[in-house]
Amino acid sequence: MEDYTWVADTEELAPGTMKLVRASGVSILLVNVNGEVHALSGFCTHSKCYLHNGKLDGKVVTCPCHFAEFDVTTGAVLAPPAREPLSTYPVKVEGNDILVGM
Ligand code: FES
Repeated sequence: MEDYTWVADTEELAPGTMKLVRASGVSILLVNVNGEVHALSGFCTHSKCYLHNGKLDGKVVTCPCHFAEFDVTTGAVLAPPAREPLSTYPVKVEGNDILVGM
């Protein structure tokens, strides 16, 4: 069973934005796609660049380093050079609190 940890307030994550947070020592990318919050590993699976410094277009994040693309709703790779998907984490929103299951 997952343990849910508070990571951010909903006011810090407007629709169409993303943010790097830490929970239990893990870097997590939070993304708000049309009001739905998703949580993924904070690093690109290619060479570990931080993804929150990249570009978000709808549900697609582009890594700032070598431009791999991922679907933030599933973690799937959409464009190389990354080959491995991003890990995903379950999210709960309770009032203004964003909680991630670890
Ligand atoms: S580190 Fe992300 S594409 Fe290379």
